[in-house]
Amino acid sequence: MSRIVYVNGEYLPEEEAKVSIFDRGFLMADGVYEVTSVLAGKLIDFAGHAERLARSLGELDMAMPMSADELLAIHRELVAKNAIDEGMVYLQITRGNPGDRDFAFPPADTKPTVVLFTQSKPGLAANPVAKVGIKVISIPDIRWGRRDIKTVQLLYPSMAKMAAKKAHVDDAWFVEDGMVTEGTSNNVYIVKGGKIITRHLGNDILHGITRAAVLRFAREAQMEVEERPFTIDEAQAADEAFFTSASAFVMPVVEIDGKPVGTGKPGSVAARLREIYLDESLKAAV
Ligand code: PDD
Repeated sequence: MSRIVYVNGEYLPEEEAKVSIFDRGFLMADGVYEVTSVLAGKLIDFAGHAERLARSLGELDMAMPMSADELLAIHRELVAKNAIDEGMVYLQITRGNPGDRDFAFPPADTKPTVVLFTQSKPGLAANPVAKVGIKVISIPDIRWGRRDIKTVQLLYPSMAKMAAKKAHVDDAWFVEDGMVTEGTSNNVYIVKGGKIITRHLGNDILHGITRAAVLRFAREAQMEVEERPFTIDEAQAADEAFFTSASAFVMPVVEIDGKPVGTGKPGSVAARLREIYLDESLKAAV
């Protein structure tokens, strides 16, 4: 069944939605995005995603094209029009269509392109993969130096995903200067002696909205959290490993570069955090 999508002020069947060939997003990957999950027909952590969107746009000298309330209304309208119970809303804003190709930014009054669409994922919260965990390989992190900006330049993460597929595993963890940065599309963690260890925030990783919530819930539950980099060796010797993202919530990682983590089965800390995250996020969903 065709979806109803949003393009520049209009709700259209997906087949009728069009963006210019001169769009800066298409020609230059000059755009940012957000993915907000939907559970029970409601948006999870919308405020966090709207705030990060405003920050990403600001870092690229792009204006927020509408208020967070207007964005929320569009998200809700799409969830309703497409009868999404569990899934995601994808939002992308680009620097628009200057009418030609040019490296220089177009005049500031060039209208941004705003696109949103839904992805229906029934069973997202009850994902059976969370019970068995996933396997990862490590891969050099050769992305640009501003990974804190959620841009649509996702070629290298896509290549990393393909390298993982080729190695018959599920995902890849990026490594820079000997230290793990993050996963292809998620923030990563290890657990040792009950302590949760995850890389500190900086320009080298995306400031995950799920990360912020999970660390808050972990601290509220009196779990110890340490924000610092770690190596692949340390992760392989950890009791547990897991990752977080808006589309996977908290997901156990049971094997890294062919070596089992802990018992090789999902650990209790990840399971507990997944449960708390889903419970609390649902309560606060809008
Ligand atoms: N990815 N790091 C990277 C590189 C990401 O692409 C993502 C999100 C995260 C986790 O951020 P959050 O918790 O806010 O989803 C970390 C989204 C889900 C995607 O590209 O589909």
